[in-house]
Amino acid sequence: MVQQFRITLLPGDGIGPEIMAVAVKILKEIGQQFHLQFSFQEALVGGAAIDATGEPLPAQTLQQCQNSDAVLLAAIGGYKWDTLPRHQRPETGLLGLRAGLKLFANLRPATILPQLIETSSLKPEVVEGVDLMVVRELTGGIYFGQPRGIFAAETGEKRGVNTMAYTEAEVDRIGRVAFETARKRSGRLCSVDKANVLEVSQLWRDRITLLAQEYPDVVLTHLYVDNAAMQLVRWPKQFDTLVTSNLFGDILSDIAAMLTGSIGMLPSASLGAAGPGLFEPVHGSAPDIAGQDKANPLAQVLSAAMMLRHGLNQPEAAAKIEQAVLSVLTQGYRTGDIHSPETTLVGCQAMGDALLQALQTEH
Ligand code: IPM
Ligand code: MG
Repeated sequence: MVQQFRITLLPGDGIGPEIMAVAVKILKEIGQQFHLQFSFQEALVGGAAIDATGEPLPAQTLQQCQNSDAVLLAAIGGYKWDTLPRHQRPETGLLGLRAGLKLFANLRPATILPQLIETSSLKPEVVEGVDLMVVRELTGGIYFGQPRGIFAAETGEKRGVNTMAYTEAEVDRIGRVAFETARKRSGRLCSVDKANVLEVSQLWRDRITLLAQEYPDVVLTHLYVDNAAMQLVRWPKQFDTLVTSNLFGDILSDIAAMLTGSIGMLPSASLGAAGPGLFEPVHGSAPDIAGQDKANPLAQVLSAAMMLRHGLNQPEAAAKIEQAVLSVLTQGYRTGDIHSPETTLVGCQAMGDALLQALQTEH
């Protein structure tokens, strides 16, 4: 039986369209092999949407995403839109998408592939074997807290305000995702906060500690965020699953990404309690290399694999894509961001072709 899926594609800005084209090719091939029929529909978000409609997340795009089985996003943003007012910035479109689809759980795996150990800026013995998962809260915390704004202070100067706030329910639901994730991995969970200074973090820690009683098989530890940042570069292998708030997760997931050598390798999944998930690379739109066929499409392709696994319940198809990625790396193909002297430098399209070949020969 052929299974059908409606996928909304959001190529976005910069290198987005190039890497999305590769991911779509790969999905079409994998669809044939596994009897999955994808109907792809493109929509506008970010700078591309601003140029076409004046807003970064047109209502039609959100609606189309809500009506699909999964959303695959490439990247948004660029210098061109950096000076627009906040409500018109590409980033506001992405945040609106996360909020609009109620995607409170962001899974960001950082796995060092043996083929890429040398590309990390850390020593091989420090990064070899690193395999961790950052579970980032995505629709709360300081990104969305009220009040926010730039207000007139009594002194006559301006005063910028953002609010970091979490309710018990918000902590509990991300906590549950994290405990479940840790349980399926090695059973170790580290919760990251700033409970020595912030009340919001004290509540976070209290709730996560309480939740731990329901997961006796998971070993829970806590770290302050400054220490966690240090430990991530000192000895990353001590971590398996990390759970943290929106802002801390933003920062720590970039650090985790860099352990693996290139942010061009890392996928992510954003999930809600129900409805379609959003799958996107951790990296940005790289406007400096856009349109030059230089971008690394692997994070986008791996995001498509995460979509198959976490969004469409197709773990075998996902594993096959991940296998193909390992295979092209073993064959020595590298885009500029992960290139080293004894490997073969290829562009974005050629990397896609190599992946396709790997998928077809291992069929
Ligand atoms: C990320 C990005 C976004 C964030 C930006 C583009 C709004 O840095 O997904 O990590 O801060 O969440
Ligand atoms: Mg970020």
